[in-house]
Amino acid sequence: MSESGITESGLPFEPVYGPDALEGFDPSAKLGEPGEYPFTRGVYPSMYTGRPWTMRQYAGFGTARESNQRYKQLVANGTGGLSVAFDLPTQMGHDSDAPISHGEVGKVGVAIDSIEDMRLLFDGLPLDQVSTSMTINAPAALLLLMYQLVAEENGVSGADITGTIQNDVLKEYIARGTYIYPPADSLRLITDIFAYCQAEIPRWNTISISGYHMAEAGATPAQEIAFTLADGIEYVRAAIKAGLDVDDFAARLSFFFVSRTTILEEVAKFRAARRIWAQVMRDEFGATDPKSQMLRFHTQTAGVQLTAQQPEVNLVRVAVQALAAVLGGTQSLHTNSFDEALALPSEKAARLALRTQQVIAYESDVTKTVDPFAGSYAVEALTDQVEAEARKLMEQVEELGGAVAAIEKGFQKNEIEKSAYRIAREIDTDERVVVGVNRFRVDEEEPYEPLRVDPTIEAQQAERLATLRADRDQAEVDRHLAALKAAAQGSDNMLYPMKEALRARATVGEVCNALRDVWGVYVPPDAF
Ligand code: 3HC
Repeated sequence: MSESGITESGLPFEPVYGPDALEGFDPSAKLGEPGEYPFTRGVYPSMYTGRPWTMRQYAGFGTARESNQRYKQLVANGTGGLSVAFDLPTQMGHDSDAPISHGEVGKVGVAIDSIEDMRLLFDGLPLDQVSTSMTINAPAALLLLMYQLVAEENGVSGADITGTIQNDVLKEYIARGTYIYPPADSLRLITDIFAYCQAEIPRWNTISISGYHMAEAGATPAQEIAFTLADGIEYVRAAIKAGLDVDDFAARLSFFFVSRTTILEEVAKFRAARRIWAQVMRDEFGATDPKSQMLRFHTQTAGVQLTAQQPEVNLVRVAVQALAAVLGGTQSLHTNSFDEALALPSEKAARLALRTQQVIAYESDVTKTVDPFAGSYAVEALTDQVEAEARKLMEQVEELGGAVAAIEKGFQKNEIEKSAYRIAREIDTDERVVVGVNRFRVDEEEPYEPLRVDPTIEAQQAERLATLRADRDQAEVDRHLAALKAAAQGSDNMLYPMKEALRARATVGEVCNALRDVWGVYVPPDAF
């Protein structure tokens, strides 16, 4: 996009225009049918007239017991799927009692050290009925295996559990940062997960290829889908190179995007993403199963747009953002709580976030038809716009050698930082309005009492770990960890020895350290 906002195809990108600016443009030219290639209008023929999207609220903090209570509240309030937030030590593969974990245990998510915590996390929840998303990347295999083990202990087989692991480490190198191992070793572990799930957990979505965090870091809609789809292409290539057939694993790839208050632009973004992915999967990888060509995605409303000023205004922002996701055809949706710019969401704020989705689903009429914007001048032209820009960026990534090579050259990170700087400048100069922040301010902000995390959590977890280590068969743990290391050094699927180590109560830190011993850790190019 040039500075003036006019892109290569000469169509204005914003503000959105009327038909006179589109001389000769035919909005019906590329319509197609919902549920049919290239799925621009949605992945299912009936979309929400057949089944509403899954209301899947991201939640988790403190100990497994506390998070389990919140999940039971959410299920009681009508949420359709679970979505687990883990604390940073768990996300980084460290035990709660490791020195590096000090101060972070149970803070931004739930602390999970072993299968014992996993049992508490899902206690009393119907794992044969709910689908569970777990936002975990570098140690994704461990959390998936512990989930499977706990489900099996409750009589639910691997063939019957449904859910998703985020498992998208490439975007962690670009944004968010919870990576552990070098890219090549991370890709090896990810393709082992694809193969394991194909054999043992066939209904599980093996990866949630994410643009959300890049968008939150400043990526434009075109950058968000371009860099996300480029990551997706890298995963598909790695899986094919590992000997998997594209139609055996591609149907279980899923995606994750943001939705902002810019409704028309976001709807266009989602439609363009489906169209590009379908074409890439069919033409570049020869996928013939329509499910392999479908881009199914989860959406979270844009956290970065929430303000600490006049926090109730965020209720309106989230409603608009949620509408954008629904009009764009999302399969699953998380709506942020209005108080998240201030602290962890309170129970009331979390309930209001869910109610926002329920009002759209059950009180509005946007679920009564499929792809309501089909044939709209503005949205069809914007869809072409975003597609053209995204394809240009994907070509640039290809020229650099693909997503991993581009990451190692810092390309995606630099492009996003340039966008972030432009947005910050527009806000500072009042060119971009943020209600309550640079316009429509109030003199006195009302005091708000945030939810506080129990400070004794770290000690509780350390005590549980000491008991677990004293109580288990250490020789059995050591034997399985050695087998895991051997698999990592060889070519056997690592998830089988990993599962036995976890069953024997090896901790998250011990399993991740076993792989650190074999692979080392990733050091970003700009680390010095
Ligand atoms: N017609 C026919 N079938 C339909 C249908 C329709 N209209 N609607 C749904 N279905 C079927 C589907 O085919 C599917 O069947 P299957 O199980 O046999 O495949 C079933 O109903 C469930 O539908 P979906 O798969 O569309 O919906 P899910 O909710 O189960 O899955 C997903 C959605 C996007 C594919 C999945 O990957 C998912 O749930 N992702 C969630 C990811 C997530 O929550 N991430 C949180 C990230 S938070 C984070 O990163 C940190 C924070 O800081 C941002």
